[in-house]
Amino acid sequence: EIPTLQDRFGRTVDYLRLSVTDRCDFRCVYCMAEDMTFLPRQQILSLEQLYDIAHSFVRLGVKKIRLTGGEPLVRNNVIELINRLGKLEQLEQLHLTTNGARLTQFAGPLREAGLTGINISIDSLRADRFKQLTRFGDLDKVIAGIDAARAQDFRRIKLNAVILKGRNDDEILDLVDFARDRAVDLSFIEEMPLGHIDEHNRALSFCSSDEIREIVSARYPLTPTTESTGGPSRYYMMADSASRIGFISPHSHNFCHLCNRVRLTVEGRLLLCLGNEHSMDLKAIVDRYPGDQARLEAAIVEAMDLKPERHHFDLDDEPQIVRFMNTTGG
Ligand code: GTP
Ligand code: 5AD
Ligand code: SF4
Repeated sequence: EIPTLQDRFGRTVDYLRLSVTDRCDFRCVYCMAEDMTFLPRQQILSLEQLYDIAHSFVRLGVKKIRLTGGEPLVRNNVIELINRLGKLEQLEQLHLTTNGARLTQFAGPLREAGLTGINISIDSLRADRFKQLTRFGDLDKVIAGIDAARAQDFRRIKLNAVILKGRNDDEILDLVDFARDRAVDLSFIEEMPLGHIDEHNRALSFCSSDEIREIVSARYPLTPTTESTGGPSRYYMMADSASRIGFISPHSHNFCHLCNRVRLTVEGRLLLCLGNEHSMDLKAIVDRYPGDQARLEAAIVEAMDLKPERHHFDLDDEPQIVRFMNTTGG
């Protein structure tokens, strides 16, 4: 019998988000400060340790792993880790979230290593704006990366767009058409208050999923789907298109009661919720007791009791969570 991880609120945790690095070659304005210091090497988990922890989660019933960052493809030898994870039979989905800039090089090797799906962030289709939003990103490279991914037979490719009033809210339909033309899914995300940013005011730039849905459905009538991808998006179908349009609405439609996931930071901190600090230090265990699977798994089971019921994100306050998304893995 395969065990399952359960929290105090009756939720089953079968989805692990594994952050493999806090580093990134972009500096998206909602994700990082312009001037970032990254973690020193001795503070982060080795690939071996990342694998051991992920393996324990799979033994405890996790069916889906998503590699995140920072940007996962800047971690040296990340393909090796994916290769090993790809061989775990109980794992049904092995996905990656990326900024897309390195996919022209990595799409093929990722598929060969056993990756089953990719999410790619793209917030604007205008080169100058894309640069302003990502600070370092090159739009053409990302589009080439998306097309390189499409050339591989991934089970699923999804685009992510964080919509900010006054910055990219006039590109909602262009993004939908871009996804439709490529037959990939697209999720619109409400910005979350992680880390202190100074480029825009989060309350003023807030754009709700309902506003976005009105704009999309005026051109393409949307039919809700009941299916779940195991993530927080609520998806809609459009007529004559294979693309699904998703909405991730942490502010306007709380989805915490359906939460099925936990996150491991690259420092080895098991975060029980994106919007809370409850955590357990798994690096201390794998550093001190390498290979002690039983001890590690007991700690993971115990950590489930720390999972809070929900986040309490509030756009009007200074962020309650001081860590940035890049150390959290989205
Ligand atoms: P799927 O796993 O394919 O459903 O994708 P996903 O949308 O969960 O993952 P992705 O890495 O593409 O993340 C998209 C956005 O969803 C990011 O901004 C994440 O921070 C957000 N997100 C994912 N899980 C949670 C969660 O538990 N709570 C909140 N508030 N946001 C989440
Ligand atoms: N709020 C919402 N989404 C964010 N992302 C990064 N920072 C934030 C934030 N503060 C998104 C990225 C990427 C995903 C992993 O997380 O756009 O698509
Ligand atoms: Fe990098 Fe992703 Fe953060 Fe942008 S959102 S800076 S691409 S980790």
